[in-house]
Amino acid sequence: MSPRDWLDAGPADSLAEGQAISVAAGGRFIAIARSGGEVFAVDDVCTHDGAELTGGTVEHGEIVCPRHGARFCLRTGRALTPPAYEDVRTFETKIEDGRIWVRAGG
Ligand code: FES
Repeated sequence: MSPRDWLDAGPADSLAEGQAISVAAGGRFIAIARSGGEVFAVDDVCTHDGAELTGGTVEHGEIVCPRHGARFCLRTGRALTPPAYEDVRTFETKIEDGRIWVRAGG
């Protein structure tokens, strides 16, 4: 794995439980969210109508689209409730040296 695959998404302690931030990576935006103490990364675009997911609530391992309320599983990207039926892409994350890293390549 190339180190270039991993994007520095900022200090780990800056992302609070239940918070989501958007980071730019290779022409797309990725939503980084913390839930249950874990850090997850998914495409920051709702598959229903393109809203930014980072404006939504993060709870119980899910992110809720702020526009029409579709829920996505942060771990799998699965669309859990209408009006979204397509899953969002997920990205690998890790905490290293006090920073959040997202494997945005590929
Ligand atoms: S844009 Fe996300 S549920 Fe409609």
